[in-house]
Amino acid sequence: MKLPPFIPLNKPKNPRQVISHSWDDRKKILASDVNLFCWQRPEITSISSYLSQLLKKELPPIKFYTSIYEIDQNIVKARLKWDQNLLNQGNLFWIDICQLTKDFLLLAKMSSGTIHLKVIDDNACSKFHTDQYKLRLFTTYYGKGTQWLPEQATNRKALGGKNELIVKDASKIQELSPYHVGVLKGTVPGIINRSKGIVHRSPRIENRKDKRIILRVDI
Ligand SMILES: [Fe+2]
Repeated sequence: MKLPPFIPLNKPKNPRQVISHSWDDRKKILASDVNLFCWQRPEITSISSYLSQLLKKELPPIKFYTSIYEIDQNIVKARLKWDQNLLNQGNLFWIDICQLTKDFLLLAKMSSGTIHLKVIDDNACSKFHTDQYKLRLFTTYYGKGTQWLPEQATNRKALGGKNELIVKDASKIQELSPYHVGVLKGTVPGIINRSKGIVHRSPRIENRKDKRIILRVDI
C-alpha cells in the first residue's frame, strides 16, 4: 500500500513583526505567528531632560514584582531610589511606566509581573539572541535602542555563535528606537506550535558615558 506524503501537523508559520503608530494595535502580538509588536511613538522631551538630570548621580537598578492593583503605590516607593526629591518634572516618567505596565498585564491577561528599570553602560548582550519568557514589555527611555532581526535576515541555526553567522543581511537590522514600546515574545521550551522568539541584541556602547535607561516588564 502506498502511504500518503508526510504532512507535519500544526507546522509553525515563520514569525513576523508588527510595527504600528498606535498602541491600540498591541493585541496583534497575541497572533500565534507574531513575535514582536512595536509601537513607534515620538520622544517625550520632558522625560528625556528629567532623566539626563537624574543620570548625574548613580542610579541603582530597580526590580520589583507587583500585582496590577498595587503598581501605583509600588512605583512611588521605587521612585525614591532614583528621585528622593520627587521632582514634579518627573511625574510623567513614572506615570508612563505605570500605564504601560498596566496595559501590558491586561494584554497578557496576567494579574502581576516583574518591573525592571535600569541604567546600562556596557555591551552586556551585544550578541543576537532570544530569551526565555512568554511575553516582555521593553522600552528604552534614554540612549540607544535595542536592535532586532526580521526573520528573512536571521540564520536561527547559528544562534549561540557569532553575530556574523546569525545575521544573513546586516542591512536588515532594525531598531526599537528610544520611546518606542516593544512587546516581545521569547522562546519557551516545551511550548509547541508558537512563534519562535524575537532575535535581538543590545546596541554597542562605544563610550562609557553613553548610558541607556531601559524598562522591562516580564511575566
Ligand atoms: Fe535579550
